[in-house]
Amino acid sequence: MTGAAPASQHQPRIFSGIQPSGGLTLGNYLGALKRFVEKQDEGIETIYCLVDMHAITVWQDPLRLRHATREMAAGFIAAGINPERSILFNQSQVSAHAELAWIFNCVARMGWMNRMTQFKDKAGKDKEAASLGLYAYPALMAADILVYHATHVPVGEDQRQHLELTRDIATKFNHDYETDFFPITEPVIEGAAARVMSLRDGTKKMSKSDPSDQSRINMTDSADTIAQKIRKAKTDAEPLPELLDGLKDRAEARNLVNIYAALDNRSPQEVLTEFAGQGFGAFKPKLADLAVASLSPISKRMQELMQDVAEIDRILGRGAERADEIATPIMERCFDIVGMVRARR
Ligand code: AMP
Ligand code: TRP
Repeated sequence: MTGAAPASQHQPRIFSGIQPSGGLTLGNYLGALKRFVEKQDEGIETIYCLVDMHAITVWQDPLRLRHATREMAAGFIAAGINPERSILFNQSQVSAHAELAWIFNCVARMGWMNRMTQFKDKAGKDKEAASLGLYAYPALMAADILVYHATHVPVGEDQRQHLELTRDIATKFNHDYETDFFPITEPVIEGAAARVMSLRDGTKKMSKSDPSDQSRINMTDSADTIAQKIRKAKTDAEPLPELLDGLKDRAEARNLVNIYAALDNRSPQEVLTEFAGQGFGAFKPKLADLAVASLSPISKRMQELMQDVAEIDRILGRGAERADEIATPIMERCFDIVGMVRARR
């Protein structure tokens, strides 16, 4: 038996996904999208996927799902994803994701799935009413990654547990079938904005599904709305401290400093060094200016791109073809390992 292969035995390849279940938030931008662009420019192969099949694990209005998928594609391109360099597509156009997910449903154990905190959060109190898809979601996510033999996955902090499960699934598959076929993927969770928090409650993450629109900044918000949301963001009356330690019990203050740092490509400590002793009356307008300067050009470009939906669909279709070229041979080998008869075509 060969056991589990470290990621390093496989050619480096980056994969990540975002659900088109609503618009992009500042959390998605700083925790994921901005970093996707940086990775693309590091010269490693990058594959970015709008995971529409994940989105429907909770109810999605069909018209809104289609719109959100296209708008998110526009957001990726506007933020700097170059669809020639990166592969950009929506999940349902590449059938290998669903095929490998089924195999992984048969590898993953009920006990593993029962520990997933995102399922518990999203299912809420009435677990009996949650979809089976929501429960199986992490196995589909493992399939998204491993169907490309991806070695590195940039995500926000909230996805750490799912990526550990992905490693468990790969390890068990490799063990059960006595192979080193699947890489053991490395999560890439880094930077000041790996967990951007709600503007109304520093203990909750900023999320596109939060009922309060004031809790988040949307990529499509106008400059005035962005400035107004930051002005009204919950904070405390203390001035900013000199050292990070001084933010320990100040979740909301810490969050705004982290956002500032991530937008400005600086460390939170550097931000404190500049603003130490100042109150939020001074800090918030500076943060608002920075957020508007960073986001407005992206949302303007997004709107322009949305004028030509046919072109967006063409880009996603071309991305899906390229993704399929990588995934199909991997899937064929996987079916073969599992013992399924395949006609030679
Ligand atoms: P989702 O919107 O749940 O599909 O998330 C897409 C990506 O954005 C994932 O990599 C998440 O970890 C990341 N993300 C979502 N919300 C946040 C947040 N509040 N802070 C940092 N990253 C986030
Ligand atoms: N579960 C991720 C989220 O909610 C989205 C996702 C689906 C993903 N498949 C993925 C992220 C594969 C990284 C890699 O944010």
